[in-house]
Amino acid sequence: MQYNPGWNSSSVNLLHVRAVGPNDTLHYVWSSIGAPAVLLVATDSQNSALHVNWTQLLSPSPAGALWIDPPSSVVYSTAVVFTKVFEYSEAKPLEEVFYPTYDLSEFSWDSINHTLNHTALTAELTGVPTTDPGSGFSNGTLTFRVTAYETHGRAGHLPNLLHTADSSQVEFVLAGVTPRGNSSHFALEVATVEETGVGQQLRSTRSIDDEYTPTIFEVLSLVAEAQNSSSVLSFLQWKAIAYGSQSPRREDNIQCRAQQLHVANWTLPRATIIQAYFGEGVGSTYTISAVNVSFGGEEGRVYQEKHYLSWSVLLGFGQPPTDTFSPLVISIMAVALGTPLAMLLLGSCLVLLAQRKRYSEYEPIN
Ligand SMILES: *[C@@H]1O[C@H](CO)[C@@H](O)[C@H](O)[C@H]1NC(C)=O
Ligand SMILES: *[C@@H]1O[C@H](CO)[C@@H](O)[C@H](O)[C@H]1NC(C)=O
Ligand SMILES: *[C@@H]1O[C@H](CO)[C@@H](O)[C@H](O)[C@H]1NC(C)=O
Ligand SMILES: *[C@@H]1O[C@H](CO)[C@@H](O)[C@H](O)[C@H]1NC(C)=O
Ligand SMILES: *[C@@H]1O[C@H](CO)[C@@H](O)[C@H](O)[C@H]1NC(C)=O
Repeated sequence: MQYNPGWNSSSVNLLHVRAVGPNDTLHYVWSSIGAPAVLLVATDSQNSALHVNWTQLLSPSPAGALWIDPPSSVVYSTAVVFTKVFEYSEAKPLEEVFYPTYDLSEFSWDSINHTLNHTALTAELTGVPTTDPGSGFSNGTLTFRVTAYETHGRAGHLPNLLHTADSSQVEFVLAGVTPRGNSSHFALEVATVEETGVGQQLRSTRSIDDEYTPTIFEVLSLVAEAQNSSSVLSFLQWKAIAYGSQSPRREDNIQCRAQQLHVANWTLPRATIIQAYFGEGVGSTYTISAVNVSFGGEEGRVYQEKHYLSWSVLLGFGQPPTDTFSPLVISIMAVALGTPLAMLLLGSCLVLLAQRKRYSEYEPIN
């Protein structure tokens, strides 16, 4: 992890996370210059390096200020931009009132330098709106908590998402923000940048119930697929749940839903590293898709009470990890199925024995 490589100031945030494999390197670049965004570049070289021309990056025309050397080593690039936070409230049944949008490109962000943990591989990007007429943020903050991983495993806190060494987790946290309505819900708008020939798909799968995320069965993934081979190139993956507490219990569950995916033709707000890497014409030469992830269902008064919302999402290269049966689930199944299974096995053994016996009664023809 490198903070602002080649730049001696902490007035802006750029975090470079480099993951080196036997024959390849993944580069994750997180930044809050403009809307908070992350760039993911996969290369087929162990020695590929990120270059930043800081004068150009901080100038009004940043195109070309961020590049990977050697350029021929780049096999795939993608980016995710966290664009806006919406707040809405149900005034009458089926009638929603929208409060002024929090545009994340108009936030001011603290330096992530003092939050960097090179052992745990974590960093926190915390910000507040530069102008806050409703003073919702007078005692609140919005944070993106980033975790990188060296191996595969499972996150240590709910929803205990699975991860691989090729992925990073980001936790979106709204803490202490005063809701502007009596039954405010929030939604986070997320946009992605893909090369042409790569399609975006929102998938929902049922997972098995396990002890890691009890009672939550739905896993959502926004996958980028190569259109000619339908191999998955990258993904965002999350469980359909957010939490209203730092140490959540079941009553702190906040329902999380993905709204419709808008594929292509989405207008990207200014997120400087995106223009710096993909060029100014990113909107016309790349495919921009966007989706709203909303928090709080009809049951949801959790935010009203707790003033805390946390949602975790995994971002990675290649196939998203999938749940398998955990040892606990296997042992429960073994106990539950044990008796009938034993009887079934015993039954088939008896049948086999009986058949064997019967067959042995036949005499060879010759
Ligand atoms: C790395 O590349 C070398 C040479 O191209 C190849 O022999 C080796 O199997 C590769 N290793 C992995 C883990 O892909
Ligand atoms: C950085 O960008 C500026 C402005 O485009 C340019 O004048 C300068 O030569 C660049 N520096 C390097 C090292 O490429
Ligand atoms: C501000 O936040 C703290 C901790 O989040 C809380 O204890 C306190 O009551 C809040 N104050 C106001 C005025 O909302
Ligand atoms: C919020 O609740 C209070 C008290 O329950 C009520 O007086 C007020 O009209 C409500 N405001 C809205 C916008 O629903
Ligand atoms: C998200 O919701 C807001 C408010 O309804 C809407 O203006 C915006 O277009 C939506 N974005 C997407 C990607 O659907």
